[in-house]
Amino acid sequence: MARNGRSNRKQGHDQDAEAFRDASRGERLQRVMADAGIASRRDCERMIEEGLVEVNGTLVTDLPAWVDAQNDRIVVDGRVLPPPARAIYILLNKPTRTLTSARDEPGSDRRTVLDLVQHPNSGQLFPVGRLDYDTTGLLLLTNDGELANRLTHPRYGVPKVYRALVKGRVEPEAVEALEEGVKLTDRKDGRTVGASRTGPVEVSIVHREADKTVLEVTIREGRNRQVRRMLAALGFPVRKLERIAMGPLRLKGVARGDWRELNRGEVQALRRAAAQAAKETRTDRGRKGTP
Ligand code: URA
Repeated sequence: MARNGRSNRKQGHDQDAEAFRDASRGERLQRVMADAGIASRRDCERMIEEGLVEVNGTLVTDLPAWVDAQNDRIVVDGRVLPPPARAIYILLNKPTRTLTSARDEPGSDRRTVLDLVQHPNSGQLFPVGRLDYDTTGLLLLTNDGELANRLTHPRYGVPKVYRALVKGRVEPEAVEALEEGVKLTDRKDGRTVGASRTGPVEVSIVHREADKTVLEVTIREGRNRQVRRMLAALGFPVRKLERIAMGPLRLKGVARGDWRELNRGEVQALRRAAAQAAKETRTDRGRKGTP
């Protein structure tokens, strides 16, 4: 589509374009274009308004415009946009001694989480957040960068529940100290750059003996080795650590080392959890008067 054909096409712009006013069609047109690598969202908006974009043969110049990225035929300046990759969400029950990354460092050959997921599209997947080499349990893998960001960014505060076996008897005073927050060092590029207190944490004791305790810790941040460091700081070295929940997702039904795809309802529940957690974080900040 040539730019100088713009005014003619604007005039010929028919009522079919109304169909793209319906938000239930799916995603914003400029977002689909930006995700396809056309330009920034802002520039894509300009391209739409300049009359460079057709959807299913109809010129769309008014925003907001909503499209079904999988099924609509979007043509930008004469080029057909390829349909985006199907979004894939996989829940893995990570075993111990497994790296949470796509591949190991050069010269090292440890098993990775992607070695365990025999999926035809596994090349597109990346882990959402990180579990330590020896931590087991619920790990999500996806090719949906936006949802991954919402699930890991502290701003969204999605709860993650860990079950820990620690050395020592954890008394109520220690539970209180954990819930109030523990000061942990912050590191960047392998160097300590300061220290800050952990955010809100919930702790419940599952089982307690004289020399060991099993407890569940719910955190909303995702600082490096956070649960191990918090417990160690109070004198309780972690012997075993398992993530048992992330937002609405539970490990139940997936054996250690196995995986399954999430169904549509689970993906929607995850999205709602991210939105809800963000709202609660904002309200909480408002109450405390923090920006
Ligand atoms: N906290 C930890 O200490 N380790 C993990 O793997 C995850 C959270």
